[in-house]
Amino acid sequence: MGILEGKRGIIFGALDENSIAWKVAEQVHKEGGSFTLTNAPIALRMGAINKLAEDCNAELIPADATSAEDLQALFEKSMDSLGGKIDFVLHSIGMSPNVRKNKHYTDLNYDWYHKTLDVSAMSFHKVLSTAYNMDAMNDWGSILALTYIAAQRVFPDYNDMADAKSMLESISRSFGYHFGVKNKVRVNTISQSPTPTTAGKGVKGFDQFISYADNMSPLGNADAESCAKYCVALFSDLTKYVTMQNLFHDGGFSNTGVSSDIIEKM
Ligand SMILES: NC(=O)c1ccc[n+]([C@@H]2O[C@H](COP(=O)([O-])OP(=O)(O)OC[C@H]3O[C@@H](n4cnc5c(N)ncnc54)[C@H](O)[C@@H]3O)[C@@H](O)[C@H]2O)c1
Repeated sequence: MGILEGKRGIIFGALDENSIAWKVAEQVHKEGGSFTLTNAPIALRMGAINKLAEDCNAELIPADATSAEDLQALFEKSMDSLGGKIDFVLHSIGMSPNVRKNKHYTDLNYDWYHKTLDVSAMSFHKVLSTAYNMDAMNDWGSILALTYIAAQRVFPDYNDMADAKSMLESISRSFGYHFGVKNKVRVNTISQSPTPTTAGKGVKGFDQFISYADNMSPLGNADAESCAKYCVALFSDLTKYVTMQNLFHDGGFSNTGVSSDIIEKM
């Protein structure tokens, strides 16, 4: 349909073709948007993203999202490469050393806990702050981050990522206020169903977890491609007054107490 025709953006977090950000890049490209792709230097070395960059005609710019310096260079290079200010940004970044190393929530390694919060939540503040202070966003731009319902409800194996997601959603609300006042930029989080990606599969018991969510959701789990389409809608001018929201994209999971499917299985 070309609803992003003429819009310029930055997409963080495409690692391989399962990544939600990968699907977002493909959908945005289909809808006529142009963008740069970015990821941590170490992720870029894995190489898969080169193909995506080629297919979408996007420049690839390494940036560690925890580094204010890298982020400033990223916004500068992106505006150069795309020929103007930015209309949309996707923050699709999450990582917890405690999850990776199977540290239980009741016995966290606090250096790793810092790292979890820095990479998965504070990086969003840094992205927003960089764009805000560089005046890099066009009026009525749209900035999105991806989150999970463990920010509101307990999913014990989601571990310290639950705390990071609560913080991420709070940053989205707080910064959304300031960015709205400054130049009508909207800031939202999308709370996505469990999705089989590298980050997703890192959570203990992911297979049971994903099928439980599927059985609990009247529409079933939302897949990555559908999430990408929702991102496109939120980047477009069709959603100009949606801001400071945490938007569930989960097939109805968040409002379901129990499903007949689950009762039968019990
Ligand atoms: N997969 C799920 O079940 C699920 C559900 C809800 C929300 N999410 C969220 O979606 C987002 C994307 O995750 P995904 O599932 O596509 O997994 P993914 O593993 O494909 O993506 C995570 C990305 O974060 C990047 N990253 C890590 N540290 C970074 C750093 N310092 N700087 C820049 N980038 C860094 C990784 O390189 C990777 O590309 C995350 O925020 C995740 O928490 C995922």
